[in-house]
Amino acid sequence: MRNNAIFRIIVLSVMLPVFWSCTPQSEEDRFIDDLLSRMTLEEKIGQLNQLDPSWDAEMKEQLIREGKVGSVFNIVGAKQVNRLQRIAVEQTRLGIPLVAARDVIHGFRTIYPIPLGQAASWNPGLVEQAARLTAEEAAAEGIRWTFSPMVDVARDPRWGRIAEGYGEDTYLASSFAAAATRGYQPTIAACVKHFAGYSASEGGRDYNTTWIPETQLRDVYLPPFKAAIDAGAMSLMCSFNDLNGLPSSANHHLNVDILRHEWQSDALLVSDWGSGSDLVPHGLCADKKEAALRCINARMEMDMQGNIYTDYLAELVREKKVSEKQIDDCVRSILRMKYRLGLFDHPYVSEDTPEPYSEQALATATQLAEQSAILLKNNGILPLQGNNLRLLICGPMADQRKEQLGTWVFDGEPARSVTPYDAFRRATDSRFAYIRMLPGLSYSRDKNTSRFKELEQAAQQADVILFFCGEEAILSGEARCRADLNLPGAQAQMMDRLAATGKPVVMVVMAGRPLTIGRQVEQADAVLYTFHGGTMAGPAIYNLLTGKTVPSGKTPVTFPKMVGQVPLYYNRHNTGRPSYDPPMLIDSIPIGCPQFSIGQSSYWLETPTEPLFPFGYGLSYTTFEYGKTVVTPTDGQKNNYLVSCTVTNTGEWDAYEVVQLYTRQLSGDLVRPIRELKGFERVFIPAGETRTVRFPLAPEQLAYWHERKNDCQSTVYLATDTALFQVWIAPDSRCQALADTLCIR
Ligand code: NOJ
Repeated sequence: MRNNAIFRIIVLSVMLPVFWSCTPQSEEDRFIDDLLSRMTLEEKIGQLNQLDPSWDAEMKEQLIREGKVGSVFNIVGAKQVNRLQRIAVEQTRLGIPLVAARDVIHGFRTIYPIPLGQAASWNPGLVEQAARLTAEEAAAEGIRWTFSPMVDVARDPRWGRIAEGYGEDTYLASSFAAAATRGYQPTIAACVKHFAGYSASEGGRDYNTTWIPETQLRDVYLPPFKAAIDAGAMSLMCSFNDLNGLPSSANHHLNVDILRHEWQSDALLVSDWGSGSDLVPHGLCADKKEAALRCINARMEMDMQGNIYTDYLAELVREKKVSEKQIDDCVRSILRMKYRLGLFDHPYVSEDTPEPYSEQALATATQLAEQSAILLKNNGILPLQGNNLRLLICGPMADQRKEQLGTWVFDGEPARSVTPYDAFRRATDSRFAYIRMLPGLSYSRDKNTSRFKELEQAAQQADVILFFCGEEAILSGEARCRADLNLPGAQAQMMDRLAATGKPVVMVVMAGRPLTIGRQVEQADAVLYTFHGGTMAGPAIYNLLTGKTVPSGKTPVTFPKMVGQVPLYYNRHNTGRPSYDPPMLIDSIPIGCPQFSIGQSSYWLETPTEPLFPFGYGLSYTTFEYGKTVVTPTDGQKNNYLVSCTVTNTGEWDAYEVVQLYTRQLSGDLVRPIRELKGFERVFIPAGETRTVRFPLAPEQLAYWHERKNDCQSTVYLATDTALFQVWIAPDSRCQALADTLCIR
C-alpha cells in the first residue's frame, strides 16, 4: 500500500564529519575557531551563561568583567546596553561582545495583536512586516535577540499560552513561524520556542506533562520548528515540559538526533528560564550538578538564568564526565550567533535612539489588528449605517489601554494605546448623534452589578449598543490557564440585561483565547472577535464596525461550545463510530432507558460534537460563492496536481477572502485526519467579480509519519500512501460539499 517515493529519515551523524573535513572553512568558521582556540575553559563556560536578571547591577557588571557572561537579559535602552557592552568588549581579556535578549513577543513599543490574533489574519506577509518593524524598534534600544516566535501548535484553549502561538493547525503555524523569523532577522535573532511538545500539556495546565507519540510529534508539533529553522532561525528554546517522561533540556533525541543530525541545524539552543535546574524538581536528577551533566550531554547549549553551567561545568570537565569538545560545540553556537548578528564588528548601538511608534509601525499595527478580527455573526446590523444614531458604548474592555495590549508586554506603553472608545469619540462621524460611554463593569472579572440599572436606562435610549467584553490581559499567557472558558465576572449577566432591552447589541470580544460564548452569540446581533489587538486595537475596531474596512479574519483555532469538549480541533480522526449530533441530550433520556437504546457513537450527552465555530471560519460584509473544486494532473508520473476553483464575490463590498485548501485521505497505512489544511491564500475580489484560485499539490504534501516495529525496534519514516484522497477548496474547515478526488499511485 505504500508509494515508491518514501521520504526516509537520513541519519547523517556518520557522514557529516567526513563531509565537514572536506569542506573548505568559511570566514565565519575560521574566526570562531581562532577565537575558541584562545579561550580558557572558564571563558567558554561564561559564554554559555545567560545572566540571571535578578542579580543586582554591581554583581552583573562584575560577572561580565570576569568573562562569566555570554548574554544579558532584560536590560533595555541604548545607554544601559552599551554600558554593559563596554565592559565586555573593553574590559575582558578577549573582548567578546554580549548579546542582549528580551521577550519581544508581539511588538516592542508598538504592540501588534497577540500572535493568536495575528494568525487569524492568515496573512504571513503582514506578520513578517510587523516582525521587521518590531525588530527595528527593539534593536534601536539595544535588544538583539528576541524569545519569539512561539510556534507551539495548541489545541487546548484552557492553556493560557494559546495566546502566544499561531493556533491549532500545523500548516498555518509553520507559515507564520517562517514569516516571523524572516521578519526579525537579521536585525535581531529569532528564538523559536518551546522545543518541543509544550502545548500538549495535560489538562491544559502550564508546565505540565506531555505524552506525544513520535509520529504525532513529527506530524503535528515539529513542522513549525523546522519551518523556522529552514527560514534561518538563529536560535531555539527548550521547553519546560517533560515529553514522554523526558524534559526537553535533557532530551538528546530532540536536541541532537532531530535538531542537529536530521535537520542539520546550527542554531543556538538555549534553555528556558531555569529549565535545566528544573530537572531536579522534575525528579530526573538528584541535584543541580547532575542536572548540568544531563543538560550538557543532551546539548542544551546556553543556560538561561539557572546558573547550573557556571556552578558545575568546570568541575564536571575536571572529573572527566564532560569533555572540552562538548563545551566547544556549545560555545561555537553562541559565537556563531553573535558573528551573524555582526556584534563583533558593531557591538554598540547608537545612543541617538529614533522615536518608536513610526507612522509605518502604527499603520501596520492598525492593519494587522483589522485583519486579526473575526466577524463571527452579523444579522445585518454591521457595518453601522444610517444617520444620527444614538450610540451606547459599554463593557469592561471598551476603554482599557493596558488590557487591549494583551499578554507579554514589557515595553509597550499603555499611554500610547488607542482604545475603541477613543477611536469612536475622536472620529467626526455624522452617523452618530451622540456617543455615550458607560462601562457597567470596571474590569473583566468585576462582579459588581450595581451600575446595571443605570446601564439599562442608557440602553433604552440608544439605537445601537456596542458591548466590549472579554478577558483582561493577565488572564492569558504563561501560567494563566483556565478551567472555565466563560466570560469572567458579571459580563454574561451584563449581556443578559442588555439583550433584554430589545435594542441591537454588537458584541466585541477582546480576549487571549477562544471563549465559550454560545449564549451571548445567540443574544447579540453581531459578534466581532478581536483577541487583544494591541496599541491600535481601537482604530481597527472602529474601521471594521463602520465599514471603512471589511472584516476578513478567520478562526485560527476551533471555538468550543463548552469547556468539556476540549480538546476539540478540526483535524481529528473520524473514529469508527462517528457522530455529529447526540441522539439524545441528557435531560431527554427517559428514566429507566435500556443501556443500548440511544445509540453507540462518539458523542457527549450535554452538547453536540460540533464546535461553536469551526477552524477557518469568519464572515465578511460581502458574500462569496465557491465553484466546484477541480483537480488536474500536471505531471501524472510524479503524481503532481493543480487544484483550482472559482470564487465569486456575490455581495456589494470589495473584500478579501481567505481561501483554504483541504484534503482527506480515504484509506492508507494508518487512519488519517478527517481533514487537513494544505494551502491558503488571501484573495482580493471586487464586488461582482470572480477569481480562480489555484494550489499546486504534490505527493510530499500528503506524506505523514509512519512507524515500523520490528522485534521491539521501532523506526519512523515519512511516506505518502498509495491512496484515494478527497480534495476541496473552501471558505472554512467545515464546508466540504464541492470536493474532487485524486489518486496517488
Ligand atoms: C519563560 C517562558 O516560558 C519563555 O517563553 C520566556 O521566553 C522566558 N521565560 C524568558 O522570559
